[in-house]
Amino acid sequence: MKKVFITTPIYYVNARPHIGHAYTTIACDTWARYQRLQGREVKFLTGTDEHGDKIVKAAAAEGKTPAAYCDEISGAFKNTWAKLGLTPDDFIRTTEGRHKKVVQQILQKIYDAGDIYAGEYSGKYCFGCERYLTDKELNDKGECEIHLTVPQVISEKNYFFRMQKYLPIWKDMLLKNRSYVEPQGYCNEVLGTIDELIKNGEDLSISRPKTRLEWGIEIPFDTDYVTYVWFDALINYVTAIGYPSTGSGQVDFDSFNDWWSVSHHMIAKDILKPHGVYWPTMLIAMGLPVYKRLSVHGYWLGFADQKMSKSLGNAKDPVELAGKIGNDALRFFLMREMNFGSDARFSEEIMVNRLNANLANDLGNLVQRTLSMLKKYECGPNPDSAAHASAAGIDASLKTMHADYQKYFENFEFHNAIEAVSVVIRSLNKVVDDYKPWSLAKENMADCALLLNTLFRAISAVLIYLRPVLPEKTEALLGLLQVTSASALPQSLGEIGFPAQKLDTWPMLFARMELDKPA
Ligand code: MSP
Repeated sequence: MKKVFITTPIYYVNARPHIGHAYTTIACDTWARYQRLQGREVKFLTGTDEHGDKIVKAAAAEGKTPAAYCDEISGAFKNTWAKLGLTPDDFIRTTEGRHKKVVQQILQKIYDAGDIYAGEYSGKYCFGCERYLTDKELNDKGECEIHLTVPQVISEKNYFFRMQKYLPIWKDMLLKNRSYVEPQGYCNEVLGTIDELIKNGEDLSISRPKTRLEWGIEIPFDTDYVTYVWFDALINYVTAIGYPSTGSGQVDFDSFNDWWSVSHHMIAKDILKPHGVYWPTMLIAMGLPVYKRLSVHGYWLGFADQKMSKSLGNAKDPVELAGKIGNDALRFFLMREMNFGSDARFSEEIMVNRLNANLANDLGNLVQRTLSMLKKYECGPNPDSAAHASAAGIDASLKTMHADYQKYFENFEFHNAIEAVSVVIRSLNKVVDDYKPWSLAKENMADCALLLNTLFRAISAVLIYLRPVLPEKTEALLGLLQVTSASALPQSLGEIGFPAQKLDTWPMLFARMELDKPA
């Protein structure tokens, strides 16, 4: 069975989960469900990034120990994903023993190979980014462009990873296979950053003295130092799939390689440099292949088109929002509204308009009126009904949807995959409008029954395609109607199966929403 491994960034525990974190995690959950639907074995990983200065500061601000604070916020992330109905296969925390062991083993391995050395470092450090920034990364006020704070100038002894040795190798690999980083705009950005780093000639600082920071993983060859958070955090992706650790008993290289060879990372553009540049060079130094793919999305912008984030105070709580509109509606909005790769605006008005148009009007209306008429005219669902004259056209649209949907999902174009389904939904509403079953019921009941049963099959097919995006609503309705399909993604109405039944009641899919107040 084909495997796929999909990861979210591991989130910092200095902030509670907001819509931005929820987007990436929901996108990975949606993709994982799409892959499972295709019969693939999926490992979906998320987790929390718990070491570093800013975690210590956040804990102190709340009068808690770093460990207690991390437990609390990491738990909040885990609970949020559970409340939103997301089903990761693993949740990794960088403070876990399994991770610490792997980080130390990798540090030792790279050190033994001569690719880690000691030196002096002085630079402008942004505590928000947990890394030194170059002047190019500052705005005209000298502030970090992401956190809008002036970085602190710091000078200290450091261990360095010989990134310069691996940058040209990675650049060459990327030029030969640009699909490592998608969409392509971000691949260009990575190539630009590689060139800039090669020009600067700098290596990557990977340590912090314990005198300044204790909350980290100790460097195995110098216990006065802890590992720099990015070197620690990025390694989570290999810890979780059993990076072959020589320390304990059986070493399962095959299992590790099986997952690593199909690894897909999803991130937003804020952390492109660590994932697009640091991590591949680390992997090459470790003697591992580079990930299969890095998929990069844009930002959710809140008020005044600024990136939604805790530090800017404009973040939305996803659980609160889902409590108002439902998990599926939240998922649908996030997945459909953002063009993967570009920024998207978030406001209640945008959300309500999108949900009313696509869910209440298009899908909700189609399902509601078709089922209501089947019930009213007592003509089905009847599995023995022959096909209506509209069936050939619907079959053709299912085939087109099937091809588009797969192409877009494989390419992480969630918005386009969903739109491919919406096109069919709108065409089915047009079939209803054109053939007018309410008139047919008076003139030709037999034809009306054929039409409504054909539409029932078509709706079933559409709901099957929407399973990754609307898992709760589709499972409820498909379960109630006892719909089956001959293949995972049906390409013709004939593939749909269901028992003869008399409709009684069914759950309302999506009601129209009123705008509370514009955000
Ligand atoms: N801990 C690091 C990642 C280490 S991965 C080895 C980190 N954490 S974070 O909590 O800041 O999360 C950043 C990620 O959260 C983004 O890359 C993105 O996935 C998500 N988002 C946070 N805010 C977002 C928006 N406003 N818009 C879109 N995604 C956002 O960086």
